[in-house]
Amino acid sequence: MKVFPFSLPGVIYLGTDSLAKLSAEVEKMGANKVFLITDKGLMDARVAQKVEDCLADNGVEITVYSEVEREPSVENVERAANELKKGDYDLVIGLGGGSPLDVAKGSAVLANNEGSILDYVGVELIPKPGLPLVLIPTTAGTGAEVTKNAIFTDVKAQLKKGVVSEYLLPRVAIVDPKLTVSVPAKITAATGMDALTHAIESYTSLKATIQTDLYALEAIKLISGSLRRVVADGSDLEAREKMAAGSMFAGISLANAGVGAVHALAYPLGGQFGVSHGVANALLLPYVMEFNVIGDLEKFKNVAVAMGQVVTGKSDREAAFMALTAVQELSKDIGIPQSLKEVEVPKEALEKLSLAAIDVKRLLNNNPRQVELDDIRKIYQAAY
Ligand SMILES: NC(=O)c1ccc[n+]([C@@H]2O[C@H](COP(=O)([O-])OP(=O)(O)OC[C@H]3O[C@@H](n4cnc5c(N)ncnc54)[C@H](O)[C@@H]3O)[C@@H](O)[C@H]2O)c1
Ligand SMILES: [Fe+2]
Repeated sequence: MKVFPFSLPGVIYLGTDSLAKLSAEVEKMGANKVFLITDKGLMDARVAQKVEDCLADNGVEITVYSEVEREPSVENVERAANELKKGDYDLVIGLGGGSPLDVAKGSAVLANNEGSILDYVGVELIPKPGLPLVLIPTTAGTGAEVTKNAIFTDVKAQLKKGVVSEYLLPRVAIVDPKLTVSVPAKITAATGMDALTHAIESYTSLKATIQTDLYALEAIKLISGSLRRVVADGSDLEAREKMAAGSMFAGISLANAGVGAVHALAYPLGGQFGVSHGVANALLLPYVMEFNVIGDLEKFKNVAVAMGQVVTGKSDREAAFMALTAVQELSKDIGIPQSLKEVEVPKEALEKLSLAAIDVKRLLNNNPRQVELDDIRKIYQAAY
């Protein structure tokens, strides 16, 4: 067996009302001045207030930074880091979907490292650890609370860029499904499909291991079995619990096995046309799976089974293609846009998108089937 690394946050709390663990963890860290990074949506939904209430008896001073944009830009993380550097904070808490969590991760390392976040785009380029970090997700989607990645939009280059470093892992991750109950149905659908994409892409990644497979397959089961329910009824706490666990498991798998062509082709859609990360992935997932399926029939067959397809009596090939059908049906049922045209991408843009996607080698190298520029062109065409 090959040797493989496997990294996780210091501790992960998963479960309803796990937010109550925050106070003791903050005390253990001996923090006095906390910088809480979140966004306007979480302020309006009064989720940020819940975190402040939890720390009311800790005697800590909390500064709330709520200027995080959706799909945050390089400038956005640098503005947050500049605010952070103004005070002698000893703990950063990130609260929100992937956007605030990534800004919290980026700011915490910029507090202890010189230069721009762009200097650290790539793998393990950050010289020094950042400030201690606690991450609290409020969407069941990105899994950013357990990954060593942070993604920022480079507005000038019209690209989403990834910073990958052990120093982006938090000391503590708190995954409390109750915090996701207020997510609107459309965002629940898109973020849930992002999580499913993480699970399927990391399960079929060339870097997958027996350890990541455990998390990925369980994530596929949990997400595909509960995503329709949370979109239909956001207050269904049992289904929210399954989604929260599924997205976190998918994050663990993605952090250690990587993702592939779906994410590589989704990044330019976000960078050039502002298509949200979840929608971009959901839209491309069936088309990339159709291309990838011959790369690993057995694994795609397992995806079909994990998604509830009955494969008895089917050939491996037939069973593997059933994974695609299952994804398409789920995506349609929860109202995800089904074509690039629907999200207002002009047809003339496909060539520029293809040229940008072929450059995302960090992810394309994990893909179970080799991808050439012409393949990317065909996938975007098919998804149009
Ligand atoms: N670091 C990683 O490992 C990783 C992985 C995948 C994606 N990402 C990045 O994450 C970002 C997307 O994150 P996202 O999909 O979670 O969306 P998001 O963080 O942009 O949030 C989307 C919207 O949902 C609202 N929202 C979030 N939680 C809410 C709640 N509980 N109640 C009411 N409203 C709520 C927010 O206010 C926001 O308006 C992208 O930039 C993507 O590239 C990062
Ligand atoms: Fe993602």
